[in-house]
Amino acid sequence: MRNLGNFIAASGKEEWISLSCAMISASIEEALEEKGSCFLAISGGNTPKVLFEALIEEAYLQDEDWKNVHFFWVDERMVPTDSSESNFGNAMKYLQKLPANFHQMYDDELGGEASLDNYRQKLQQVPHEGNIPVFDLVLLGMGEDGHTASLFPGSKGLEVKDQSAFINQIPSLNTSRMTLSFPVLQQATECFILLNGPNKVKIMQEILEKPTEYPIETALEGLSPKTWIYYN
Ligand code: 6PG
Repeated sequence: MRNLGNFIAASGKEEWISLSCAMISASIEEALEEKGSCFLAISGGNTPKVLFEALIEEAYLQDEDWKNVHFFWVDERMVPTDSSESNFGNAMKYLQKLPANFHQMYDDELGGEASLDNYRQKLQQVPHEGNIPVFDLVLLGMGEDGHTASLFPGSKGLEVKDQSAFINQIPSLNTSRMTLSFPVLQQATECFILLNGPNKVKIMQEILEKPTEYPIETALEGLSPKTWIYYN
């Protein structure tokens, strides 16, 4: 069996939500206790929405704790914040109730390149090792093609090693998206991979059995603890 982290199978959606929130908030608390701050990067898509909702409903952390938590984004579609496609817009529907710090990746009024320059500046707040920001925690999802963040199979962004954040052209979607690069995801202190559905579980099992070309597998290289929390 390959060592690609810990695999936690939830019995269903409710247990998946409660397990994920409990482990994520414990990881945030650990960073706060150790350093007085927590820098995390969250993914978009549909999967994490229910987690953000639960994080708000349950008092996993006190207000004074949230004040030292910095939310960054793993990737972003280049659309207005009020678009149903905006990862920031969708997450902030829930997270805005938290007295935390939110660092938007893409601002439609600035456009792609200016937003990217802006975000690279924001990333300077994150503790670095060399020229790589080291997040305390990264929450990753996975597509049914094995992509994570906006690092898609067949995209040139799979080869980007010298930039922390960049704009990736995605042939399979005929669009481009802003994304963190593999080195940043690999360098994170802790990583949770959150997924559900038989097609994604099947990809996870493939990865467990033998080396694959899926971008999620590349993202998990490195020594930090990875935890897959999933349900069918
Ligand atoms: C995005 C995400 C992306 C996501 C996967 C899974 O912008 O879409 O960051 O990497 O995690 O595409 O998306 P779902 O959770 O919607 O299946």
